[in-house]
Amino acid sequence: MANYLAFLFYFQAFGIFTALCSVKPNIVYEWETVDLVWPNSSVKDEYIQSKKFIPENNAINGIKMYKDSIYLTIPKLKDGVPFSLVKVQNDTSKNPLLSPYPNWDIHLEGDCSKMRLIQSMEIDPYTGYMWIIDTSFVPRASINIADQCPSKIIIWDLENDVEIHRHTFPSSVTGPGMFYLNDIVLDFNRNKTARWAYISDTLGHRLIVYDRELDISYAFSHPSMKPVQEYASITIGNVTNVYSPLGINGIAMSSDLKNVYYCPLAGVGLYRIPTALLRKSSSSDSDFSREVIHVGNKMFQSDGIYYGRKHNLYYSTLGPRSVYQWSMTPISDNVKPGRQTVIAQDDMIEWVDSFAFDESGYLWFVSNNLNTHFSNDTVKGSSNFFVWKLFVDDSSYLRFSDDTSSAASCSLDFFVCMLILLCSFNFW
Ligand SMILES: *[C@@H]1O[C@H](CO)[C@@H](O)[C@H](O)[C@H]1NC(C)=O
Ligand SMILES: *[C@@H]1O[C@H](CO)[C@@H](O)[C@H](O)[C@H]1NC(C)=O
Ligand SMILES: *[C@@H]1O[C@H](CO)[C@@H](O)[C@H](O)[C@H]1NC(C)=O
Ligand SMILES: *[C@@H]1O[C@H](CO)[C@@H](O)[C@H](O)[C@H]1NC(C)=O
Ligand SMILES: *[C@@H]1O[C@H](CO)[C@@H](O)[C@H](O)[C@H]1NC(C)=O
Repeated sequence: MANYLAFLFYFQAFGIFTALCSVKPNIVYEWETVDLVWPNSSVKDEYIQSKKFIPENNAINGIKMYKDSIYLTIPKLKDGVPFSLVKVQNDTSKNPLLSPYPNWDIHLEGDCSKMRLIQSMEIDPYTGYMWIIDTSFVPRASINIADQCPSKIIIWDLENDVEIHRHTFPSSVTGPGMFYLNDIVLDFNRNKTARWAYISDTLGHRLIVYDRELDISYAFSHPSMKPVQEYASITIGNVTNVYSPLGINGIAMSSDLKNVYYCPLAGVGLYRIPTALLRKSSSSDSDFSREVIHVGNKMFQSDGIYYGRKHNLYYSTLGPRSVYQWSMTPISDNVKPGRQTVIAQDDMIEWVDSFAFDESGYLWFVSNNLNTHFSNDTVKGSSNFFVWKLFVDDSSYLRFSDDTSSAASCSLDFFVCMLILLCSFNFW
């Protein structure tokens, strides 16, 4: 019995060890093209016939998790994308069918109240409220923005499947001119109530703030949010695309809720701004300019970024098929960022788009070959869209309130490593 337990323990510890030391993330799901859960096959046939559903145009972008469910976005950047927010059903297959979320009807063509173009969302783990940003239309040069639906944020209760609130952005906040609501982080009142959302506007080159308590929104502009033309051209594999208009994209919230980090897609600079400034609608662009800090340069251009409770910033790399971790100095006025290290690498990773954490120390991410998607060059005969996970022994910035456990978890790591060492010398 003792031997049996020891064996089990060894086995467990070995699993943790390999997970900790590996840079090979695991593929959870992969799709060549996605398919949906349809009411019946005649509805599916009708969608395909009428080109309301063009499977190869549906590229998975965003990912967030709540309890056992995974929510993904498929922004309507091309024709034939009927549902831009979906949920993975309880499905153990490698390429599960996707269910329109929260329901079928809210995504149908129609008036401005529908969910229209969703790129990202964030989930408040304390209430189960999902904050969903909807640009509302595909911003193209030929579009008359004034005639389009205004953009909005919708707060949806995942537990009870009901809408809690929505806010329509005035045209002075998203606009005038081009805008694209790309990514979102949440900020909290002292009593753990999510109050502010900070949103990157990749085409308007602005950082948008939504204050839930006052139900107001406002925006900041700064040169650091603009694309840097020197970095606009990105080569992945043998495809080079130019992303000249793409400014502020990745956005992350520090786990002490004191700073917001952001970076333009066309660029390598990482910037941070205190939340104390963002929370005040009276702050001006010149206040912003005085307080913004250039943290340093990432090794590469990236799309999504995410911040973990242990003060690590995770960022995707566009090109080298990897994910980096950059350790940030906690709670300090001096910016002394630590080392940037590769934590995930795989030949199949192309264009990491967005990140999420589960509650077990795993970092999840989507890679989606977006470069080939943009150049209409979708690779056939192999998967294009992947959901990955990697054990990093960290958790989301949204777990900001559990800050007492990090010491315990360090000593646990130490304990596990010692155990491994003993095991490898056949100590048992
Ligand atoms: C398929 O589902 C649609 C929508 O729910 C319904 O209107 C239609 O009658 C159904 N068709 C069949 C053959 O069941
Ligand atoms: C998911 O499916 C498994 C096996 O079919 C089942 O045991 C489990 O209860 C299901 N979970 C949910 C949340 O439905
Ligand atoms: C938290 O505080 C805000 C005001 O700062 C208040 O509106 C909200 O109701 C409070 N929530 C709880 C759960 O106490
Ligand atoms: C690009 O790479 C793919 C796969 O590596 C290859 O099949 C294709 O021929 C290459 N195209 C060019 C133009 O080199
Ligand atoms: C891809 O296809 C779309 C629609 O067919 C077209 O508008 C766009 O210019 C194409 N992009 C490239 C890079 O060829």
